[in-house]
Amino acid sequence: MKIIMLMAMTADGRIAKARDELVNWTSREDKKYFIELTKEHRALIMGKTTYDTIGKPLPSRLNIVLTREKRKDIPGSLVHIAGTPQEVIAYLKREGYTSAVLAGGANVNGQFIERGLVNEIHLTVEPILFGTGMNIIEGVDVDVHLELVKTEQLNSSGALLLVYKVLAS
Ligand SMILES: NC(=O)c1ccc[n+]([C@@H]2O[C@H](COP(=O)([O-])OP(=O)(O)OC[C@H]3O[C@@H](n4cnc5c(N)ncnc54)[C@H](OP(=O)(O)O)[C@@H]3O)[C@@H](O)[C@H]2O)c1
Repeated sequence: MKIIMLMAMTADGRIAKARDELVNWTSREDKKYFIELTKEHRALIMGKTTYDTIGKPLPSRLNIVLTREKRKDIPGSLVHIAGTPQEVIAYLKREGYTSAVLAGGANVNGQFIERGLVNEIHLTVEPILFGTGMNIIEGVDVDVHLELVKTEQLNSSGALLLVYKVLAS
């Protein structure tokens, strides 16, 4: 199972100012890349806090939301899982998926990274500073080594796409 972590961050390395904020500060080109990549891989994994900032399942993709709350699934569109990242991957395999996009937030990203389950990281660095806020991962106690495999300037303002392969931690 290939897991691609896809995140947008500021030039000072923040993914949000506060935990309950919708990501509404990224470029049109980043949003387009998000849509293309998640549609290509057909499944995305999110934590409850991230999902609640969006408020509804993203269409034409399987939305997997990690939560301990009892919530209603929508067959083929929205699935809630209370479990480990390995259990999420087992679910995806049973449903016939061979890849998925891990779309945050920091808490859920950290759980997948810590267990060595992320193969690639696609980061859009937007030309903005927050000065305060959340990192792309939290709760991780290991150094994770990356290899830069691709860079692309997404627009004339300088939004940069960085694609990393995750090496052993
Ligand atoms: N810049 C970007 O690209 C980007 C992308 C995504 C998100 N974000 C930002 O990130 C922030 C949210 O991140 P976050 O780290 O606070 O939260 P999160 O990772 O989205 O969600 C965390 C919540 O998910 C549930 N959960 C996590 N792991 C679980 C597990 N193994 N089993 C069951 N439930 C589990 C827990 O909620 P319960 O136990 O209460 O159910 C937990 O509090 C928002 O501000 C959002 O805008 C930014």
